[in-house]
Amino acid sequence: MPMQRNTTEDDITAEALQRFAGTQDPRLRQIMLGLIRHLHDFVKEVELTEAEWFQAIGILTEAGRMCSDKRQEFILFSDTLGVSMVVDLLSHRKPDGATESTVFGPFHRLGAPELPAGGNIAHLDKTGTPTLVGGRVLDLDGKPIAGALLDVWQAQSSGLYDSQDENLTDLHMRGKFRTDADGRYLIRTVLPVNYPIPSDGPVGRMLRATGRHPWRPAHIHFVVSADGYEPVTTHIFDRTDEYLDSDAVFAVKDSLICDFARNARAGGEAARLGIEPPYYTTEFDFRLKAAEQGSTVLDAQRRLAALGARAAE
Ligand code: BEZ
Ligand code: FE
Repeated sequence: MPMQRNTTEDDITAEALQRFAGTQDPRLRQIMLGLIRHLHDFVKEVELTEAEWFQAIGILTEAGRMCSDKRQEFILFSDTLGVSMVVDLLSHRKPDGATESTVFGPFHRLGAPELPAGGNIAHLDKTGTPTLVGGRVLDLDGKPIAGALLDVWQAQSSGLYDSQDENLTDLHMRGKFRTDADGRYLIRTVLPVNYPIPSDGPVGRMLRATGRHPWRPAHIHFVVSADGYEPVTTHIFDRTDEYLDSDAVFAVKDSLICDFARNARAGGEAARLGIEPPYYTTEFDFRLKAAEQGSTVLDAQRRLAALGARAAE
């Protein structure tokens, strides 16, 4: 009998599945078979044309060319397609009470300076409104965690991160803070602003072609970690922001929304730190879950090391 050659599109799918079926590593086998099944189904469902296939290759090629130590267009695709948040949810299912995670995003940088309580991450920002962000890091029983590390980053009041700002060569709007014996932290910054994600590449073209906007609601990024606890990668958001319901990267969670209160008079910590009114204050407590034995949580540093990018020289 001559060997039966593939004749229909379903034959090709079956043959491709067959070729991957012998994959030794069971997890890789599951992933490859799922990928082939869904990819082939997708192509057949939309009846992808050759021209569209070629356009997709062009888009991916351009995304690859745009990637550098300052730009990660593939993460941006993942974020704007909602994939990052699905992966995040699957990877970080939290017990009730633990601070929820959200996207890491492409703008974290290694090498942020360690600052004392009340240290100013916005020392070069002359236009933003001074803001104090304070609170505690607690375990799930509400006990303070002393010595927890908060790695913080934020866009400037111009809406640009330091790495996007041609006038800056140094790190800005970044700092590492430690909690005191009562689990307290205090960060001096400027009021976060909403800003558009980079839209001068293929991700921006996708957003425009599909009638979507590129805006993210005002937020501050955190990776909070402590020995014996699972680190959490998250943001806090400003409750008054107009983009809370349409974040370009689907990252808003109710539990992460904060009230930034405007203060017209000097007083308290602000006076001690020499901050002139008006200024804003907000409080947010982070609650960490104890690490499970052998858990393999990817913290920010290891994620970046895995990408091999964005180390601050
Ligand atoms: C950010 O908040 O820095 C961010 C997250 C996802 C995509 C783009 C920017
Ligand atoms: Fe951001």
